[in-house]
Amino acid sequence: MLSQTLNRASRSTRARRAVESFPVTRKVVDRFVPGETTADAVEASAALIATGRSVTIDVLGEDVLDIGGARATRDAYRALLVALAEAGCADGADVSLKLSALGQALPDGTTIATDHAAEICDAAAGLGCTVTLDMEDHTTVDSTLAIGADLRASYPWIGNVLQTNLRRTPGDIASLDGTGARIRLVKGAYREPATVALLRKDDVDRAYEAAIDALMTSDCYPMIATHDPAMLDRAIEKAVAAGRGDDRWEAQMLYGVRPDLEQRMVDGGHRMRVYLPFGTDWYGYFMRRLAERPANVAFFLRALAHR
Ligand code: FDA
Repeated sequence: MLSQTLNRASRSTRARRAVESFPVTRKVVDRFVPGETTADAVEASAALIATGRSVTIDVLGEDVLDIGGARATRDAYRALLVALAEAGCADGADVSLKLSALGQALPDGTTIATDHAAEICDAAAGLGCTVTLDMEDHTTVDSTLAIGADLRASYPWIGNVLQTNLRRTPGDIASLDGTGARIRLVKGAYREPATVALLRKDDVDRAYEAAIDALMTSDCYPMIATHDPAMLDRAIEKAVAAGRGDDRWEAQMLYGVRPDLEQRMVDGGHRMRVYLPFGTDWYGYFMRRLAERPANVAFFLRALAHR
């Protein structure tokens, strides 16, 4: 119930104004978003890289409704890539793009978002960076997978995200097997209707397990993006069973959620990538993190009480 309300609030302008107006919010947001500027993102990346992790960086923002905003997002990513290279952090780094922030919802949005994503891929290509397309709500999945497939012809390392709460995902994994694509597997952060999605957490977890098994035996590069230790244990086991070495899959977690579990993966010799969001437009991202875990709301309310 609380999670549904928070998910709805993540799309509400009124709720956004209210949450952003609490002076304490910024302090709490810091747990999940290490800063607002490119320099903050580069500094946080360097710190993570120094501990044996790699990064995927997200310039926060979504649902851009004008072409100027979409171009500004593209430019922010290009500036980020240059800054990463200058700091010696580009090689092996990844950037995560939300196509809605690159113009996907505008008239002729598929072409606009594809062109913007391609320009970011061009900038990444020479620096040893990769690009992954985040997945948003179910209405965008066909378009996002099609843009991924289109770009993969020129940039074979481009990644797509698949959400195991969506009923279609087993079919999408089967379609992507044979392309060698980098696939980030997530449970799904958007509230979806029962017609397209599994609504019970147990069902989503069982679907996640089945998807791990399918990806590990496919020719894709699995990126197991979860904070669920049982899923990570299964990924380790299935990778071994499939004869897949530690350089042929990776674990991923969101910044600030389970640093202890990240460390366990690093200590175990597994590739560990941290999803690092930055920017001023943190509202939607932050609200989805609260919706995922009621304890985070208690943390937020405690901070409000002590301000
Ligand atoms: P689950 O929700 O079962 O949580 C397992 C455990 O993790 C919890 O018991 C708790 O200990 C911890 N945990 C989980 N969320 C937490 C939180 N917010 N705060 C504190 N602890 C928490 N989704 C999407 O729809 N599209 C996308 O493109 C992406 N991209 C993405 C990238 C990466 C790298 C990750 C890790 C996740 C995403 N997601 C996403 C989000 C994903 O769909 C999902 O909502 C979250 O990862 C939470 O699900 P878990 O798999 O962690 O499991």
